[in-house]
Amino acid sequence: TANANRAGRTRNIVEKMEESGKNCVIFYGSQTGTAEDYASRLAKEGKSRFGLETMVADLEEYDFDNLDTFPSDKVAMFVLATYGEGEPTDNAVEFYEFLTGEDVAFSEGNDPALENLNYVAFGLGNNTYEHYNSMVRNVDKALTKLGAHRIGDAGEGDDGAGTMEEDFLAWKDPMWAALASKMGLEEREAVYEPIFGIVDREGLTPESPEVYLGELNKMQLEGTNKGPFNAHNPYIAPISESRELFSAKDRNCLHLDVDISGSNLSYQTGDHIAVWPTNPGAEVDRFLDLLELAEKRNNVISVKALEPTAKVPFPTPTTYDAIVRYHLEICAPVSRQFVSTLAAFAPSEEIKAEMTRLGNDKDYFHEKTGPHFYNIARFLSAVSKGEKWTKIPFSAIIEGLTKLQPRYYSISSSSIVQPKKISITAVVESQTIPGRGDPFRGVATNYLFALKQKQNGDENPTPFGQTYEITGPRNKYDGIHVPVHVRHSNFKLPSDPAKPIIMIGPGTGVAPFRGFIQERAKQAKDGVNVGRTLLFFGCRKSTEDFMYKSEWEEYQEALGDKFEMITAFSREGPKKVYVQHRLKERAKEVNELLLQKASFYVCGDAANMAREVNAVLVQLIAEGRGVTEQKAEEVVKMMRSTNQYQEDVWS
Ligand code: FAD
Ligand code: 2AM
Repeated sequence: TANANRAGRTRNIVEKMEESGKNCVIFYGSQTGTAEDYASRLAKEGKSRFGLETMVADLEEYDFDNLDTFPSDKVAMFVLATYGEGEPTDNAVEFYEFLTGEDVAFSEGNDPALENLNYVAFGLGNNTYEHYNSMVRNVDKALTKLGAHRIGDAGEGDDGAGTMEEDFLAWKDPMWAALASKMGLEEREAVYEPIFGIVDREGLTPESPEVYLGELNKMQLEGTNKGPFNAHNPYIAPISESRELFSAKDRNCLHLDVDISGSNLSYQTGDHIAVWPTNPGAEVDRFLDLLELAEKRNNVISVKALEPTAKVPFPTPTTYDAIVRYHLEICAPVSRQFVSTLAAFAPSEEIKAEMTRLGNDKDYFHEKTGPHFYNIARFLSAVSKGEKWTKIPFSAIIEGLTKLQPRYYSISSSSIVQPKKISITAVVESQTIPGRGDPFRGVATNYLFALKQKQNGDENPTPFGQTYEITGPRNKYDGIHVPVHVRHSNFKLPSDPAKPIIMIGPGTGVAPFRGFIQERAKQAKDGVNVGRTLLFFGCRKSTEDFMYKSEWEEYQEALGDKFEMITAFSREGPKKVYVQHRLKERAKEVNELLLQKASFYVCGDAANMAREVNAVLVQLIAEGRGVTEQKAEEVVKMMRSTNQYQEDVWS
């Protein structure tokens, strides 16, 4: 209903804060968990340093038409990620639309409506995207316009420059100072106050039917695998086929077909699929061992929220092993702020001093961690020279680490060709840590690789020998499965198949275009008039990483001269050749097609490729149409805002 959220709680934030005695709410708009993580860090810091009564709130779970009744002696913080093309994250859509709408209406009808609202704002963005941090900028503007008062600066973190964490840390201290002065808060010696309590459940074993071993909800626990399936309830899907598209010395490319026929899930060509990974066994072992939890790993515990507004991030009763394996991001880079928190629990005074220095001194921290790809356990072990960390309360671990996040993949099949089978194309990379023989590996990609190995009866769980709990929660399902959900995107073919399209997709950026071309090939076979279909594809060498090589030939046969694939092999000649160079060579035809309203698509690397393609497009429009660069830039901007130019990029 309108007044209660999913769990039947109130959607009225003012009432909620009143009831629970809170004076600071931290709202988050989060897609991949980072904004949510920062929000809970602010909550903990506000509580431990200033004695603020804080709570964290998912924007999706509250209404905002009563923000005008927000009391002036309290504060609201907004931690807002910008997603994709300057969009709000899924959970912030309604909030954003409400606040920035034409005639936003509040319950009391005051003017200015939000005069009593004091707020703090931090944004998470990526400067390689055009709409850098537009979410926090627009929300900040809207709030100010409505009469609300911002405390401190509106912070902006930049993932593109890789400085997100440092931007956040640099922003928060002056913000706290401003807030303390505004609210008359006194800083105190920070004390760790757990948000979660750990309760031993001695009567239970991992075999007890009520014990969760990686399942995300009751239905999964009971093995019913029932819908609706979404970001809160992934479908545990069978993998119908998996194979390697190529294998080079430091990279493999996987193709997986995920069978969704047993579910109500559907997708459209161009959508994304989210994969819920499992942490590799070796890292789970390392983590449990360092905290001296290895012996207790299968002990059953419940985790209880010690205050009414906190939410335990996974269902319990469960085991230490299952929490670490399925629910915590234990492989991610260690955060400097968490290092500060953990200093208090160091095994010796000397290690505590070192941890404190690492936590406080940015340059020293980066000097020590920079090249190492340290995750939390590797980091702590390096600092303590292998000595075990036995004093860290497990609650601090749950509070301090991000929830293990699903990873998104651009669906590489067409929904009209295979409506119940979703294809994934993923590159598995291995980066070697300088100075150590120890390669670093991505969580989800190596998990998928392990699934492929297992399905094909290969002994070696991954090429790098990591072990995985492959069949997932409780081995309830026969065969190889992967938990997934679908995320709808705006990256779409034109509704009229006769319209021409131009696609730029080097490397795995070609994934959605395999779907696009599959779809057009099918339409052509069915006698539909299909427009010109140009694909610019790039890889290192025609003999090394040219994925789907034989498939393109099939599509060529179906589409005839409607389809043309233009390749750029970067490591075959004396000079690098990239897709944007080929695009330039085809300037004349590209210009003509664009004037015929061709859709222009770019997919893959956000950091460099997408930007360089944009620049080349501006150039070729300027030259081809005899206009200034400035004018051509406007043309390209217009193409973007009318969706003629669409991007599906990631970093
Ligand atoms: P992660 O474990 O998440 O690591 C990712 C990177 O983070 C590492 O390479 C490393 O640089 C850094 N990192 C992680 N841990 C550490 C550490 N301890 N120290 C230092 N650095 C660290 N990928 C595809 O292959 N195909 C696609 O079609 C595709 N489509 C996508 C579509 C969208 C909309 C988005 C957002 C992403 C897409 N991706 C795609 C990327 C994909 O979601 C994953 O990010 C990618 O597969 C890596 O995931 P992972 O879990 O293996 O790596
Ligand atoms: P490289 O690795 O030889 O530099 C897929 O990864 C392809 O994209 C590879 O051929 C890679 O070339 C290429 N690539 C790397 N950087 C690029 C960029 N800035 N623009 C376009 N393609 C790029």
